[in-house]
Amino acid sequence: MKQNFQIAIDGPASAGKSTIAKIIAAKLKYVYVDTGAMYRAITLAAKRAGIPYQEEKEITNLLPETAIRFEPGTPVQHVFLNNEEVTDEIRSTEITKNVSLVASYASVRQNLVNRQRMIADSQNIIMDGRDIGTTVLPNAQVKIFLVASVLERAQRRLKENIAKGMTSDLKTLQADIEARDYKDSHRKISPLVQAKDAILVDTTGKSIEVVVDEITDIIRKKQ
Ligand code: DC
Repeated sequence: MKQNFQIAIDGPASAGKSTIAKIIAAKLKYVYVDTGAMYRAITLAAKRAGIPYQEEKEITNLLPETAIRFEPGTPVQHVFLNNEEVTDEIRSTEITKNVSLVASYASVRQNLVNRQRMIADSQNIIMDGRDIGTTVLPNAQVKIFLVASVLERAQRRLKENIAKGMTSDLKTLQADIEARDYKDSHRKISPLVQAKDAILVDTTGKSIEVVVDEITDIIRKKQ
């Protein structure tokens, strides 16, 4: 049986993965899956249940009763936790600060990786995250590792926050991004690392359109 087409986009926080992946998904009519949103949803589920983020066992017990669902939308995909929309709430400062810890738990990763593979099984897909090319979809036909300088990633976040009416400062954002990069790349299970067969794309100083064209070219050559 012919495998459906899978595109894996990995990279550090705020490198532009979801922005780029969404545009390419719309162009190719592929399904887009933001796996970071799934880790964020589990983190929010723990918060809602009053479970401290350090309690791996209690968070593990929560997994079977935690439904996560996506609905397409522009400019953002809608995320539902147990049928309640949590699209904005999963992007709060508290969830952003604690998601790396929750995402480091083996049980959480195993559960979400299974769900991600199930989604990718039956349709053409573009999936972004940290371990898609290395662990979730090791046979993906296209693997991209998207990076950008820390300063530029913090500047992009600052712009987004200002647009949302949130106050934040560049230095703090830069420190938060560095801390999350460190945790994501140093955890024991499926750390953030470029897959051997992934193509490195540096988005520093490039417009969204330029990056989309660059990646679209890579995809076309593999189709
Ligand atoms: O892409 P994001 O910033 O929304 O991801 C939130 C966190 O989830 C990130 O700090 C690391 C974790 N994550 C992960 O461990 N594996 C993935 N495939 C996606 C995200």
